Amino acid sequence: MKNIVLFGGGNIAQAVAEGLINANFKASNIFYIDRNLRNQKALKKLKIKNLTKYTSTKVDLFILAVKPKDAIDAYKQILNDFEDPKIVSFVAGIKSKKYLKFNQDIQFLRAMPNTSARFNLGITAIYNSSFSKNNLAKVSRLFKKIGIVMDLDNEAKIDTFTGMIGSGPAYFFYLLKSYEKKLMSLCNQDKKKVNAAMVNLIKGVGSSIENNNNLDKLIEAVASKKGTTEAGLKSFKSQKLNKIFEKGISSAIKRSKEISNEF
Ligand SMILES: NC(=O)c1ccc[n+]([C@@H]2O[C@H](COP(=O)([O-])OP(=O)(O)OC[C@H]3O[C@@H](n4cnc5c(N)ncnc54)[C@H](OP(=O)(O)O)[C@@H]3O)[C@@H](O)[C@H]2O)c1
Repeated sequence: MKNIVLFGGGNIAQAVAEGLINANFKASNIFYIDRNLRNQKALKKLKIKNLTKYTSTKVDLFILAVKPKDAIDAYKQILNDFEDPKIVSFVAGIKSKKYLKFNQDIQFLRAMPNTSARFNLGITAIYNSSFSKNNLAKVSRLFKKIGIVMDLDNEAKIDTFTGMIGSGPAYFFYLLKSYEKKLMSLCNQDKKKVNAAMVNLIKGVGSSIENNNNLDKLIEAVASKKGTTEAGLKSFKSQKLNKIFEKGISSAIKRSKEISNEF
């Protein structure tokens, strides 16, 4: 996949572009089509060019990254303006059959990345609708540059993935707000120090999981009998924090399914 085009160059497209460039994918091989001046500016900063000026460019892959309300029009525009395009849709909610009904021969797949792609720590789910095996492998290699890839064998699983992983970073940011509040007073309102502490906390959690994948063992290693951690965990358990968390995730998955039915 030499030349890729971001059709829609907003939040997620910029995160993916930055991750690709960090991974040595040439910015000169990434193009955009976007009507929003603020996003055009941000893309230019990344040295990504507007496609219209380079119409002779052979496009290997289109990434559809517009909001669901704009997706079908944008998709039709690609079909009208380019011959035999291969299209990856980042769009939440709109099922493959809604796109493929316009032309059954198009190579089309759905991919759901998250914004951690910017730091090459992304998790991208892929559900293949009609890509050839060879091109699917190329797309998979492309997304492996920005993190890990999860192949889904059923399109409905994208809703579960979206509610858990797509939305996932926000759940942790939300939980960290409780830390931020207390750390601010601990660090005499030194926001820089507070941020550094939160980064180490979360990075340390990640590294611990890298070293030992058993979560119960990791908890055991922190909690000692009658200690502070045990007291904290006991309180969480008595209030069924895990059930509350699971309920929140289920609500996000339910919303993703609802959006699927709205389009
Ligand atoms: N944000 C995430 O973390 C994330 C993660 C996974 C998947 N997604 C999916 O990715 C898609 C994009 O999300 P986003 O948050 O990146 O959206 P966004 O920031 O609004 O970016 C979309 C961009 O596409 C432009 N656009 C829309 N239709 C166009 C058209 N016909 N021609 C030219 N430009 C057009 C928009 O311009 P205007 O602003 O003028 O409309 C906007 O600049 C969504 O469908 C979402 O479900 C997002």
